[in-house]
Amino acid sequence: NKVVLAYSGGLDTSVIVPWLRENYGCEVVCFTADVGQGIKELEGLEEKAKASGACQLVVKDLKEEFVKDFIYPCLRAGAIYEREYLLGTSMARPVIAKAMVDVAKEVGADAVAHGCTGKGNDQVRFELTFFALNPQLNVVAPWREWDIQGREDAIEYAKKHNVPVPVTKKSIYSRDRNLWHLSHEGDILEDPANEPKKDMYMISVDPEEAPNQPEYVEIGIVSGLPVSVNGKELSPASLLSELNEIGGRHGIGRIDLVENRLVGMKSRGVYETPGGTILFKAVRVLETLTLDRETMQVKDSLALKYAELVYAGRWFDPLREAMDAFMEKITSTTTGSVTLKLYKGNVTATSKTSPFSLYRQDISSFESGEIYDQADAGGFIRLYGLPMRVRAMLERGL
Ligand code: ARG
Ligand code: SIN
Repeated sequence: NKVVLAYSGGLDTSVIVPWLRENYGCEVVCFTADVGQGIKELEGLEEKAKASGACQLVVKDLKEEFVKDFIYPCLRAGAIYEREYLLGTSMARPVIAKAMVDVAKEVGADAVAHGCTGKGNDQVRFELTFFALNPQLNVVAPWREWDIQGREDAIEYAKKHNVPVPVTKKSIYSRDRNLWHLSHEGDILEDPANEPKKDMYMISVDPEEAPNQPEYVEIGIVSGLPVSVNGKELSPASLLSELNEIGGRHGIGRIDLVENRLVGMKSRGVYETPGGTILFKAVRVLETLTLDRETMQVKDSLALKYAELVYAGRWFDPLREAMDAFMEKITSTTTGSVTLKLYKGNVTATSKTSPFSLYRQDISSFESGEIYDQADAGGFIRLYGLPMRVRAMLERGL
């Protein structure tokens, strides 16, 4: 039998290869997804996987699929977890796990394995996706079974099994990077009283050191989805990388929060999401023109649930899919253009236009009034306020 392992080439996943062979007696097919974590991580990977004892390495470029089918729906929905987290890792797990299910079929494997710890969200996201897409696959999570404890144990195990120990010094932080974001957890961050060190950040400059000149960027949006930057039409993945560049140099999109993990504990994380922060702002601002009050309220309330489902690994839940159909319908007119000004960590919208704008200057202006008759407001307020008057009358015995 064969197992497909989510493989990064780091120490942890390298050690899993001989461990699976020893404990499950199976052939190991390593799988690495390119979700924009940076090409350096992919170089020399095949030799490394084979040196660890894998029979094969499969690499798939999932960047466009990741942005188009996972990130864009969340963006359109306005999905933000616990008011701040833009879900970078949460969206990446289902696209990787989905590809693993495909690879398992291609290579004839009956099991899949991942290197997530037993304490986090990621294990849930991987495994719920496996369940949803192929309930017959066996799932192996070595971290929940083995007695390798820390880095020293892992190095010793690697040496005993002739696995080349990666030379790159392991970062003190637990990081996860993809096209949407870079997350930092662990080390000094584990105490929420500690301010992150300046040199921890990797894809955005310190807002204090950002240029003294603001930069304008224009985002074109069609039906709630971004299509262009400064008039240039771009594929989802290239649009996002372009905005990461632009946003990163102005220190956009750093957040620092304590979040509630699905497994019950709180954890402290710092995130860099430069392009994503620009895009959320752009869509939100365009919606102020295209959505009416009640639609916006219902959308915002559903967005909370949507984010929770994504965070909790329930991407392939029919509930999320149904909510997505709702989002698609109500954002069908969210089309237009938004210009944003980036300056030292801030994004402000300076201009917004839409052919489907519900804003009418001829109605809203202080200057005129043809359709809106101010005299109508008196009757409206009397009826709208009737329950308040009735209650006040009751209280006074009138
Ligand atoms: N706390 C974030 C989340 O649950 C980020 C997790 C990062 N994962 C990692 N393996 N470093 O989505
Ligand atoms: C892990 O525990 O593998 C990373 C953190 C998380 O999944 O939340």
